[in-house]
Amino acid sequence: MSHILKHQEAGVTTLTINRIESKNALTGEMYAALADALTEAASDPEQRVVLIQGHVQVFTAGNDISDFLNNPPQSEEAPVHRFLHAIARFPKPLVASVCGPCVGVGTTLLLHCDLVYAGDNANFALPFVNLGLCPEAGSSLLLPALMGHQRAAQALLLGDPFSAETAMEVGLVNTVLPPTEVNDYAQKQAMRLAQKPTEALVQSKRLMKAPQQAKLEEVMRDEGAVFSALLRSPAAKEAFSAFIEKRKPDFSQL
Ligand code: COA
Repeated sequence: MSHILKHQEAGVTTLTINRIESKNALTGEMYAALADALTEAASDPEQRVVLIQGHVQVFTAGNDISDFLNNPPQSEEAPVHRFLHAIARFPKPLVASVCGPCVGVGTTLLLHCDLVYAGDNANFALPFVNLGLCPEAGSSLLLPALMGHQRAAQALLLGDPFSAETAMEVGLVNTVLPPTEVNDYAQKQAMRLAQKPTEALVQSKRLMKAPQQAKLEEVMRDEGAVFSALLRSPAAKEAFSAFIEKRKPDFSQL
């Protein structure tokens, strides 16, 4: 079965991350499916809104760490970059429903969503530095803009996780709900959007994002180059091996 499920109804494309045995960790194949689905929804006039959701126990554990080690992105055309650009440029409303762990790209993709609903079990973490990496998806620009430099530094430099309540307080999440209610609630909000005039929605979203879009693209290029270089660094290799071997990484010589 595909690890990204696609369901289209009443103008809403719902994309469900479905690789629960690996905590919904995202592989190249999954980024490609997400990128393709976003590209198709962007150009299909019948699709007015996209909703991204995970499982009631986990949204995503972020990038698959074995993929980081064995199959790192080779170019701008790599599935992860296609996905990040598709989500950053997606012209129609994007809604997310998040329960449980929401790690790395799971959290950074939310910065490109228009409405985000979270279960009270949601837990957000950006452990890029702990993995020898740097922020991606424009998060080095968007996260400090959202929550202020110091709180962003706590999340991005210390890698401290934060709760659904904190995410709502800083403006990353619209509403916190019991986990079993979040997907239904997000679906209802997506359907409300889908009933509104599409061109008015698209133009309103474009106007809200236009002032920082060029800067965002520049930052994403910068992040992409640094991230690719760091992926091949000894610190990252040690962090990935430590995760796979279920031990603490040793950065004392790095
Ligand atoms: N990549 C690959 N496999 C992953 C994964 C990831 N990002 N996250 C979890 N898995 C796998 C685990 O290796 C484990 O596999 P196993 O059953 O073969 O041992 C399985 O999913 C269950 O994970 P586990 O850690 O036992 O679940 P948990 O409920 O205790 O913790 C997380 C869940 C998400 C908090 C934890 O798995 C985690 O921190 N994952 C890594 C997150 C990460 O650093 N992502 C990269 C961000 S840039």
